[in-house]
Amino acid sequence: MRKALVTGGKRLSGTVSVSGSKNAALPILAATILLHGETTITNVPNLLDIISMIRILRALGLRAEYFEPNIVKVYTNNSIKHVAPYELVTKMRASFFIIGPILARMGLAKVPLPGGCAIGSRPVNLHIKGLEALGAHVSMEHGFVIVKANKLKGAKIYLDFPSVGATETIMMAATHSEGETIIENAAQEPEIADLAAFLNKCGARIEGAGEETIKISGVSKLKSSDYKVMPDRIEASTLMLAGAITKGDITLNGVIEQHVEPIIRKLQDAGVEIGVSGDQVKVKAKDGIRSTDVKTMPYPGFPTDVQPQFTSLMSIASGTSVVTETVFENRFMHVHELKRMGADIQIEGQSAIIKGVKKLSGCPVRASDLRAGAALVLAGLAADGETLIDDVERFIERGYENLIGKLNSLGGDLREINGNNHQ
Ligand code: UD1
Repeated sequence: MRKALVTGGKRLSGTVSVSGSKNAALPILAATILLHGETTITNVPNLLDIISMIRILRALGLRAEYFEPNIVKVYTNNSIKHVAPYELVTKMRASFFIIGPILARMGLAKVPLPGGCAIGSRPVNLHIKGLEALGAHVSMEHGFVIVKANKLKGAKIYLDFPSVGATETIMMAATHSEGETIIENAAQEPEIADLAAFLNKCGARIEGAGEETIKISGVSKLKSSDYKVMPDRIEASTLMLAGAITKGDITLNGVIEQHVEPIIRKLQDAGVEIGVSGDQVKVKAKDGIRSTDVKTMPYPGFPTDVQPQFTSLMSIASGTSVVTETVFENRFMHVHELKRMGADIQIEGQSAIIKGVKKLSGCPVRASDLRAGAALVLAGLAADGETLIDDVERFIERGYENLIGKLNSLGGDLREINGNNHQ
């Protein structure tokens, strides 16, 4: 098991580019199941979650591979399998999203039920409710969800919560439904709009993606089309916070300002200077980060995927801040580790009450999920001494393209080491 060794105290400076979005690329790759022929997807981040999705596509009978570090080519055959393998799907929750396109394409899909995960129980009831509304018959057998439909029919679907994954599942299934589907209280995340833009380029008829109500008019066939994935707003936000927490002066290339608006506003509240010019964002932090409260919300609110990293920043801010998590029920696992580094944080229900401390001090820590891993990297950058983070592959590299390399190029001091090599 490889670990990351972060030596704190270096002020980050310089310029770095943001990679393509993991959370947009995953459903876009899943959507290639709906196509015929060859598709080239560019600006795909090179990371383990994408490799997992490529393996799933291959297991279903598609040809899929990284053609270059950031280009994935997929060839969709005429006949694909309808059963998704347990070992692959249970590795990554996002792989459940293949259920919609397999059903739409084959009239039958059998996909393992994803388990809970460190940040919450994460059920799939809204995905299922949506597929049922489109006319699918749903059953459970030996841990698999089985969905069947001779013909999917357009329907009006109201989501009780604007789930990103459920919106994507329904949108993909509805592209092949007869008639019109309306999704109300849909998730408005930019990744939804990116998936819709890809599908529309392939001949789908989707209107309103990225808004509260999405209208999908079914089409009988989709053609293959090349597509460039949007920039990763969560990676961009993580890097912006790395600049802030090290009192650095950094420039990020390839950011869509609107996507990181809540982070910009909160960093400004915390006394960080932000400059935006085109797709460039400059982050300059002088001494003295101020505390500010944050509440996570579905887009366009403050993203839950940046909450752990923001908690790290607030742990060294002057004053007391309250960080409230409303999207996932159990997303404060990083707090325990931050406390081991000297942070003063109390959890009260869905909120973390953070009294800023002058300094964190490095120590061995354990991440519980991807964004908790990023939060600990940021804490390590700001801490005195060395922070050793367990299992880099599972908790950092799975979802960030070359995070350690990018932070080092900005003057950070991070190394990957084998579990036993560090004295
Ligand atoms: C996606 C992102 C993830 C992000 C999350 C919220 C991907 C690959 N992952 O995950 O990084 O943290 O959006 O922005 O894009 N829920 C239900 N029933 C369902 C589905 C979800 O109750 O059927 C609940 C979940 O338990 C959670 C909330 O809804 O509490 C949000 O989940 P959802 O928006 O579906 O997140 P994901 O699509 O899994």
